[in-house]
Amino acid sequence: MSEQILIVDFGSQYTQLIARRVRELNVYCEIHPFNQLPLVTRNIKGIILSGSPCSVNDAGAPRIHVKEIIGRVPVLGICYGAQLIANEYQGNVIPSQIREYGRARLEKIDQHHDLLKEIQLNSQVWMSHGDTIDFLPDTFDVIASTSSVDVAGYKMKGAEVYGIQFHPEVTHTVDGKTILRNFVVHICGCTQDWTPDIFIETTIRELKEKLVSGNVVLGLSGGVDSTVAAVLINEAIGERLHCIFVNNGLLRKNEFNKVLESYRHMGLNVKGVDATGAFYKALKGISDPEQKRKAIGGVFIDVFDEEAHKISNVLWLAQGTIYPDVIESVSVKGPSATIKSHHNVGGLPAKMKLKVVEPLNTLFKDEVRKVGRTLQIDPDILNRHPFPGPGLGIRILGEITPEKVRILQDVDDIFISALKNSGLYDEVWQAGVMLLPIQSVGVMGDERTYENVVALRAVTSVDGMTADWSQLPYDFLANVSNDIINRVKEVNRVVFDISSKPPATIEWE
Ligand code: XMP
Repeated sequence: MSEQILIVDFGSQYTQLIARRVRELNVYCEIHPFNQLPLVTRNIKGIILSGSPCSVNDAGAPRIHVKEIIGRVPVLGICYGAQLIANEYQGNVIPSQIREYGRARLEKIDQHHDLLKEIQLNSQVWMSHGDTIDFLPDTFDVIASTSSVDVAGYKMKGAEVYGIQFHPEVTHTVDGKTILRNFVVHICGCTQDWTPDIFIETTIRELKEKLVSGNVVLGLSGGVDSTVAAVLINEAIGERLHCIFVNNGLLRKNEFNKVLESYRHMGLNVKGVDATGAFYKALKGISDPEQKRKAIGGVFIDVFDEEAHKISNVLWLAQGTIYPDVIESVSVKGPSATIKSHHNVGGLPAKMKLKVVEPLNTLFKDEVRKVGRTLQIDPDILNRHPFPGPGLGIRILGEITPEKVRILQDVDDIFISALKNSGLYDEVWQAGVMLLPIQSVGVMGDERTYENVVALRAVTSVDGMTADWSQLPYDFLANVSNDIINRVKEVNRVVFDISSKPPATIEWE
């Protein structure tokens, strides 16, 4: 097992960021909720205790047996984590008297200690805590202070145990990366050898060991995750991997054939199944978004299951599940209600009674892309915007008809092609078009029209949890609007969605 840093999650909004920063140092790490910790085995080189919205003085505060880990491996407590250690060792934690939120500067730094090596005096840090460490016994050294916080950083005497009352993982802490590097590399001794190449090499080896016999089925979606998962498994077991790509009739214009072609080009053993008719039939008369999702998910499972049964000796179902999905389903806050792509086919493993293999379930999205690049997967697939499983089905508000799908495909194609041609596509996290269930009056030449309205949506985001509308140039929007109205005769009005998430969502349904 390769070396790793264990991150103990006490429910901070920043826990995933800590993991990302550690991994950017090419060091593997895992997040585990405080109440489901793994054994501290030899490959765990250090432990980071996250922040938390709780106070260590709360009766029900999340706690771990700090004394059991101290002395075994180096420990870094961040905010709540630091307060928890202090609290366990006779320090005193009290509610802050003054504001300890936002930017501050380190006005005293003791650089003798490895954690703060190379950190400049007055370095900006980001604070966010309601409690503060008021007193530390003399078994600790204070190694950093700000004008308002005496104990901005501490070290336990004679042990590799550190605490900081600011967040090194957020970019507002200017030297945060250096502090994390000091901890992970200099204090824990991690070798920084966790790279896409190593991930690929070890994953292929593990897949070969795991998938010794039988066939594997995998549903390709045209997206990054399922494609990278397929390529990895294909490298490990070749033709025993059977990929199925289902056309639900709700994909983008020409997408089914284009994507199928590029999968074949990549050497994948893939079967394209056009089940458009079955999906449209199941969707007939349905306008409620959740019922549409259910209908689409249900038909997908049936079609996939039927196709998989045509293959002999299938023992495994492969899925492109990624790390945020895993973390969310075991998080301190409980399983999240957020919809993620694989949830659309969440019923598959149960229905098919197959063993599940998920080679990407330790990676964040950007890491999946890096692995994909190293595997030389077509950049067109790797850099593609996220696209919901129910596809255009949740972008046609109200009932879905083949005619409406055709209209939306034409409009969407004009918008997405324009983004690509103007070099804006990669600046946008996700873009698409909604076909609204209303008609509006227009005038074309001498004629009055009464046609459809479409809404363009383009957002910037990191992970889709929050998003802001993209400030696309007016000229660009004007050209797209003209193109749409001139080329798609069923549309006479184009609007642009300027809502952020929250309070709106990215999709309209
Ligand atoms: P919302 O609309 O919740 O979307 O802001 C966040 C992200 O999730 C995608 N999304 C879905 N993906 N099945 C999916 O596979 C769904 O039912 C679904 N609904 C929303 C959405 O496109 C965005 O990327």
